[in-house]
Amino acid sequence: MQRFDQYMAQCLYGSEGFYSSGKGLAGRRRDFLTSAEVGPLFGEVLCRWVHSIWCEQGKPDNFTVLDVGSGAGALLTALRAADRFESTWTVLGIDYGGDISPEEFAQNQTGYVDNTTVVIANELLDNLPFRILEKTESEIAELYVTANADAAQYHRESLQNGSVDPSDNNPPSQVMEYLQNASIGTRLPFLEQASLWVESILERKPAALLCLDYGVTLTHELLRGDWLRTYREHERSDNPLHEPGSWDITTDIAIDQLPEDPQVLTQAEFLQKWGIDGLVVEGKAIWEQEAARPTLHSFKMRSRANEAAALCDPASLGAFLVCEWL
Ligand SMILES: C[S@@+](CC[C@H](N)C(=O)[O-])C[C@H]1O[C@@H](n2cnc3c(N)ncnc32)[C@H](O)[C@@H]1O
Repeated sequence: MQRFDQYMAQCLYGSEGFYSSGKGLAGRRRDFLTSAEVGPLFGEVLCRWVHSIWCEQGKPDNFTVLDVGSGAGALLTALRAADRFESTWTVLGIDYGGDISPEEFAQNQTGYVDNTTVVIANELLDNLPFRILEKTESEIAELYVTANADAAQYHRESLQNGSVDPSDNNPPSQVMEYLQNASIGTRLPFLEQASLWVESILERKPAALLCLDYGVTLTHELLRGDWLRTYREHERSDNPLHEPGSWDITTDIAIDQLPEDPQVLTQAEFLQKWGIDGLVVEGKAIWEQEAARPTLHSFKMRSRANEAAALCDPASLGAFLVCEWL
């Protein structure tokens, strides 16, 4: 029997896991483009944000941009190609390969972080293993997974009778309160790993941390359900127990479970704040100048308008939340 987060870690990052076996990178790219994979414009705008932090820090020579959970590397490529990229910056991408424990990995990666580092995590937090709590008839229980001969099943362990390992973190009080008052069968995520990951980065006092993900500001907004989703190629499901290892498992992030109250904007607001509209206007003008003899660069400029529309779409990527810790 495994607690849900341990089960999820195995499904995604175990030896046959969704990400460790390579299905993950291909899977998301085929069907669900991340903002970084829409095109270079996202990295171009993020580079403006990085540039402003670098200027605020007095333009240090040793300045590192660390992309955690860099996946196939689209953001790294775009950052390095951006106009505002400074040649003195070091841009690093790290991704959890699954061959060391998540704890060891977390320790290794924080080794890169100090006050001249900007840390960016795009769609990382939703992929960090989370715990699930459920309101039952008599109590609040935690979900475990038992693997039977042909199917995995949920098993509920009481949180209140002390069955939870005392070394564990307690679920945040707001999660417990919402569940106390919820109807029987309601479930909420406890984003323990996401919260610990943010904490471990902030402890190293980076110049800034930026996390972009789908989510909500307050946990109670997740009472609507539909926060736990699984993806595989062209399919979407909400049953993470089905065919373990062949599906991505993700959750909406509830910002109130993360430490130290970040500043929060929607992705559309954030990208507008950092000049996406101006880049589109510039791209259009360059395209018009060069349209008679277009080059690869002219097409890149023309595509900014479509990229911006996708990145700021309020029904999709534009509604993602951007959390900034300065
Ligand atoms: C949804 S993908 C996002 C990829 C990329 N950031 C993008 O926007 O295209 C999430 C990535 O996080 C990685 N990952 C999961 N846990 C991690 C951890 N603790 N540290 C670093 N990377 C991690 C996974 O291997 C996966 O490649």
